[in-house]
Amino acid sequence: MSTETMKAIGFYKPGDVKEPMDLEVVEMERPKPAGRDLLVQVKAVSVNPTDLRTRDAKKDGDESFTVVGRDAAGIVAEVGEDCSLFKPGDEVWYAGTNNRPGSQSEFQLVDERIVGKKPKSLDFAQAAALPLTSLTAYEAMFDRLGISENAADNKGKSILIIGAAGGVGSIATQIAKQAGLTVIGTASRPQTVEWAKEHGADYTINHREPLEPQLKELGFDNVPYIFCLSATDEHMTDMTTVIAPQGKICSILPAFKPLDPRLFAKSVTFAYELMYTRSVFQTEDMIRQHELLDRLADDVDAGELETTKTEHFTPISPSALKEAYSNLLTGRTIGKIVVEGPFEE
Ligand SMILES: NC(=O)c1ccc[n+]([C@@H]2O[C@H](COP(=O)([O-])OP(=O)(O)OC[C@H]3O[C@@H](n4cnc5c(N)ncnc54)[C@H](OP(=O)(O)O)[C@@H]3O)[C@@H](O)[C@H]2O)c1
Repeated sequence: MSTETMKAIGFYKPGDVKEPMDLEVVEMERPKPAGRDLLVQVKAVSVNPTDLRTRDAKKDGDESFTVVGRDAAGIVAEVGEDCSLFKPGDEVWYAGTNNRPGSQSEFQLVDERIVGKKPKSLDFAQAAALPLTSLTAYEAMFDRLGISENAADNKGKSILIIGAAGGVGSIATQIAKQAGLTVIGTASRPQTVEWAKEHGADYTINHREPLEPQLKELGFDNVPYIFCLSATDEHMTDMTTVIAPQGKICSILPAFKPLDPRLFAKSVTFAYELMYTRSVFQTEDMIRQHELLDRLADDVDAGELETTKTEHFTPISPSALKEAYSNLLTGRTIGKIVVEGPFEE
């Protein structure tokens, strides 16, 4: 490959988000970093439901090439003139943002304030599973729900995690457990129940059945925190019923139906978490993502948190990615699906 060009994988036409993407490889100019941007050589990526929604953002008639992907692990190739956190040769991981070209290209520009050092104990594929889901879980629990990062403060407190065995749930259960909370995870199948328990859930209940009687049977009249990772509208009535007075709910998906007015009577805080907010709006505290990713790397290297990688494809090619996205589209993913380089046609 020329040093001036790179392979990138993406699509030209918007499509149905319920279908795998019509992906292709394009040879394009390799970008140069400026300011606080790093140029990262991408070694592995993981697939996320949000990648499929990239197509929503495309207007009919817009047939420009969109590079897909968010999560990546790789090596810093070059740095912009204002970078101070990384140097060429550093191994890094990140979740990127949704208003710049994605991670499924041999080289990618990314702002160093949303990049962390890759854990030494993980290879690139194991690492690529974690950034986006972990940032989502950290930001939701610590920044939106206001849960203390000090485990001693959370003794005796419980959190209900709806969708505990998916990509976000698999790391959210670990982080909640590490934060000293009692974790009740929801899962609907024997495989997902087992996975959720292995990854930090003290108890599991089934999200296909009413939640209140299942919680009561476990001895919980209500819960002070709910972290909703799936079907927010579908679970709204149940969440309203089981949230404690003055409790807090965080959803990572939009609620399209009006909030249940019973939340008002309970003075419940309803919060949203979108892990792109800091990078898209360039908030003053966007370096929080760098700090959280570094903290995550330390905790992984200390053996306190583990990779959530379950499926592994290679090389990074349209056909491997299509298979990975087809699996994701089933809505029954356990943990994370990773695709590892090299990049191929
Ligand atoms: N706001 C953000 O920043 C942000 C970040 C990441 C993801 N997200 C969004 O959050 C959602 C979850 O992401 P993910 O990566 O964890 O997805 P995922 O890995 O595809 O989630 C799969 C899991 O969802 C569970 N599930 C399926 N239907 C459910 C239902 N009706 N109620 C509860 N759980 C259900 C399944 O459990 P069973 O097989 O046991 O049913 C499965 O284990 C996606 O829509 C994604 O786009 C948002």
